[in-house]
Amino acid sequence: MKAVVLDRITEAKDIVLSEVPIPEPRPGWVLVKVRAFGLNHSEKLLRLNEIRADYIQKPVIPGIECVGEVADPSDSGLAVGQKVASLMGGMGRSFNGSYAEYALLPRRIVFPIESDLEWEALGAVPETYFTAWGSLFECLHLLPSDTLLIRGATCALGYATMQIAKAIGCRVIATTHREEKLPLIAEANETVIDDGKLTGMISGVTKALDLIGPRNLRDTLTAVEKGGIVCQTGLLGGVYALSGFDPIKDIPNGVYLTGFFSNYPTKLVIDDIFTFFNKHRLTAKYGKVFGFENVKDAVIAQDNGGVDGKIVVKV
Ligand SMILES: NC(=O)c1ccc[n+]([C@@H]2O[C@H](COP(=O)([O-])OP(=O)(O)OC[C@H]3O[C@@H](n4cnc5c(N)ncnc54)[C@H](OP(=O)(O)O)[C@@H]3O)[C@@H](O)[C@H]2O)c1
Repeated sequence: MKAVVLDRITEAKDIVLSEVPIPEPRPGWVLVKVRAFGLNHSEKLLRLNEIRADYIQKPVIPGIECVGEVADPSDSGLAVGQKVASLMGGMGRSFNGSYAEYALLPRRIVFPIESDLEWEALGAVPETYFTAWGSLFECLHLLPSDTLLIRGATCALGYATMQIAKAIGCRVIATTHREEKLPLIAEANETVIDDGKLTGMISGVTKALDLIGPRNLRDTLTAVEKGGIVCQTGLLGGVYALSGFDPIKDIPNGVYLTGFFSNYPTKLVIDDIFTFFNKHRLTAKYGKVFGFENVKDAVIAQDNGGVDGKIVVKV
């Protein structure tokens, strides 16, 4: 089969498709014929830095998510040809991932799906919508009566969370750091240019999803109303942890801070997402689709930031 294989730091221009054996099925694992996969910021971090870490199996096929069909179910109880989605749980890091024609995946992260969406739309779902759903409902307890701030809305996750929040009737305030991108978030009730200081610029925020990360977190915490919840999910600001964070002084009285990590997907949430799409007659949002033979161009486009929304590769 053809696959992207990494064993060292690799620039996008150096991505190639290699010929490797189709993985051998084994108990507890499911062989999936990959039909589409989305690109993720975390794969860029792996390719340009994290690949050096000891816990990364090397050589590794990257890719933390995919949709496809069961090629060999082994002892999983799934059926050959069944449509599935898969994500995270070590995929593309501690075992081979989805930038390939086939992926051998642990049963615990292979979820049967029932959906009539095209493969390219399905390919945009697993990681982005699972993270959107978990951040909004598990962490932020989002309700139709909420005013939701999406800080750093011009990313795949930002567009997905805005779509879900609008569908349930929330008021949405969306930010971008680029004035020319304001039209991309016009679906929001209010749009704001984010120069790093939102406190005092916006009001009425009851829930906040922070996709910029620790760089602005203190400001997000003071931008919400008393009783509000802040969920820290993204790291677009390039700062990954906070030194000197003082919870007593930095978290205002009566404001709540939570964080979401997509490493533990569940069938319940995957089912909820597709039920939600059907109920609200929605499709998954994506920015651009590339053929597998052009995976290098997809990765270059990701590095250049030239695509607005999820990049999907159709295999
Ligand atoms: N916690 C979790 O489990 C989890 C799961 C999935 C994703 N994430 C994180 O969530 C974030 C979004 O992920 P994604 O896959 O949706 O990203 P993505 O679609 O690859 O988004 C990248 C885009 O974000 C935009 N962006 C917006 N504000 C930015 C800022 N202040 N600085 C830099 N770029 C900014 C950039 O475009 P412009 O600069 O042109 O606006 C860039 O093109 C990432 O940090 C990712 O690591 C976390």
